Amino acid sequence: EGLNMKSSEYTAIVVGSGVAGLYAALKLSELKNAKQNILVITKSGIKDSNSRYAQGGIVSVMSENPTDSVKLHVQDTLKSGAGLSDPSVVEFISKNSEKVIKDLLKHGVKFDRNDNGELCFTKEGAHSVRRILHAGGDATGLFIEQALADDVLAKNNINVLEGTIVTELLLDKNGVCCGVIAFDDEEGEYQTFYSNAVILATGGCGQLYKYTTNPSVTTGDGMAVAYRAGAVMQDMEFFQFHPTAFKAKTEENMFLISEAVRGEGAKLTDENGNTFMEKYDERLELASRDIVSRAIFNEMRINNVPNVYLNATVIPKDKLNKRFPTILETCRKNGVDPENQFIPVSPAAHYMMGGVKASVTGVTSIKNLYVIGETACTGLHGANRLASNSLLECAVTGYEIAELLKDENFDEVIADDNDEKIAETIAVYEKPLDEKSVDFKVLREKLRDTMWQYVGIIRNEQNLEHAKKEVEKIEEAFGYADKCPNKEAFELRNMIVIAKLVIDFAIRRKESRGGHFREDYTGKHEPARHYTRTKNTDKYEEIYVK
Ligand code: SIN
Repeated sequence: EGLNMKSSEYTAIVVGSGVAGLYAALKLSELKNAKQNILVITKSGIKDSNSRYAQGGIVSVMSENPTDSVKLHVQDTLKSGAGLSDPSVVEFISKNSEKVIKDLLKHGVKFDRNDNGELCFTKEGAHSVRRILHAGGDATGLFIEQALADDVLAKNNINVLEGTIVTELLLDKNGVCCGVIAFDDEEGEYQTFYSNAVILATGGCGQLYKYTTNPSVTTGDGMAVAYRAGAVMQDMEFFQFHPTAFKAKTEENMFLISEAVRGEGAKLTDENGNTFMEKYDERLELASRDIVSRAIFNEMRINNVPNVYLNATVIPKDKLNKRFPTILETCRKNGVDPENQFIPVSPAAHYMMGGVKASVTGVTSIKNLYVIGETACTGLHGANRLASNSLLECAVTGYEIAELLKDENFDEVIADDNDEKIAETIAVYEKPLDEKSVDFKVLREKLRDTMWQYVGIIRNEQNLEHAKKEVEKIEEAFGYADKCPNKEAFELRNMIVIAKLVIDFAIRRKESRGGHFREDYTGKHEPARHYTRTKNTDKYEEIYVK
C-alpha cells in the first residue's frame, strides 16, 4: 500500500456507473478529439447504482404526445420547485428531452409501447398531463442502465474499474482539477488517475437516513470529495422523502412503491380503507411529494401507527399486473398480494435536491471538475423535485457534458509532475495509517438514526441543533479525517461530511419551502433564495431568485 502509487492518464475520468455516468462515458467515447481512453470508476459493480431502482420512469416532452408541451412541463417543474428552480435550466432540460430519449432508443433502451407500437406515457404526482415513459412496466432505471452498461462494456476505448472508491480529487497549485486518488478495497491499494476532465456522477446520499428507498451505495461520495476539494455546494437542506415505500425491510433498504401506482388510480387509506388525502390537498394522491409525505407522516403520528396503506385493488387486475410486475412480485414475496390486499406504506428518504453547484453541462466552481446527475445541483429541482425529472436530468447532463468537451484540446499537458499541491495530497495517502478500533457499522447506523429522527420530514431548531451535536460525537468516535482503513470507513467519512452540511443548511433556512419543512417556521416565507457555501468559509452566500 502507499508508496509508489500506480498512475495512469485518461481523456476523461467518470466516477460512478448510474445512468448519468454511463451515458456520459458513452457519449465521451464517441468524441473525435478523445485521444486516450475514457475511464469509468465505480466502487461496486458496473450495474450497481441508485438509477437501477428507479421505477416510475423518465419524463419526456415528445412531439408525438399532443397533450404535452415544453411550456406545460416547465410550468409543472417550476411549481413543484417552490420558487427555487431556475427557469432557464428547466427549459433547457425540457427542450432537450426528446433528442436524448431518441438517442437512448438508439442505444437499445426499450421503453414500453402499446399494441400499435406507440410509446406509452404515464402520470405521477404534480404532473398536469401524462408524459412519463417507462420500461419493463416498473423497471425503467434498470432497463436504461442495462442497455447503457452493455454498450459501455462493448466499447474498446472505455476502461471500467470496479470495486474502487475515489477518495480525493487532485487539485494543482492553481486550483485546477487534474485527477483523482482512488482506493481498491480488495487489494488495499491506492492509485492516481490523471485527466483534464474529471466527471463526478456518484448519485445521491439516501443512506444518510435510516429509512430510504436508495441502495447501500448511496453515501454521498462525489458530493463529499468535491466539497473537501473546495467546490461550491448548494441547497443541501432540500431532501425529498418519497411518500410510499413498502413498510417491510426488503433486504437492507425499503422497497419503493412507485408513484405511478397512484398515477394509475391507487388510493392512500387507513387500515379500514378510509381515504385521507382530501384533508390535505385538492390534487389528492397526486399532490406534490412533500405534501403527500407530510400528510402520511401526520396520519401516522395522530393515529400512532407505523404505516398507512395503498389500495391498489381499485386498478383493474390486468393493468396492475402488466404495469407493475416488479412491485407485485416483491410485495408477494413479502406476504402482501396487491391484487386483493392493501399495501402497507410509509415515507422514506429518496432524493437529494441539493449538491455540488453545477451548470447543465456539469461545469462547477473548480476548473476541469464536472458534476452531473443527483450529485449536482443544477437548479432543475429547486426545493422539491418533480417525479421522474431526475433520470431525465441524468440523461440530458450526461449527453451535454460530451457536447461541451467536443472542442477540448486533449493534447495539453494533464498535470505538472512537480506540483507541490498534488504531492501534498498524495502524501496524505502514502503515510502509514494509525489504525483505531472503531465499529463503523454501529456508527453508520447511529448516524442514520439521528438523521431520521431529527433531520427528517418535519424539522425544528431544537432537533437540528441536537442532531448537530450527535453528528459531532459520531465524527469524534470515528476518528479519521482523511485516509481511512477501508471502503466502509471512507463511506462513513463521506456520510459525516454530508450529514453536517445537511444539518447546517437546514438550520440556516428559517422557513418552510418544498422538501424542507420547519414546524417552527410554518407560515413565514423568506424571499426566494438559495444558500451556497464552500469548505473554506463558514459563511453562506445567498443567491436571490430573479
Ligand atoms: C417513483 O417511481 O415513484 C419514483 C419516481 C421518481 O422518484 O422520480
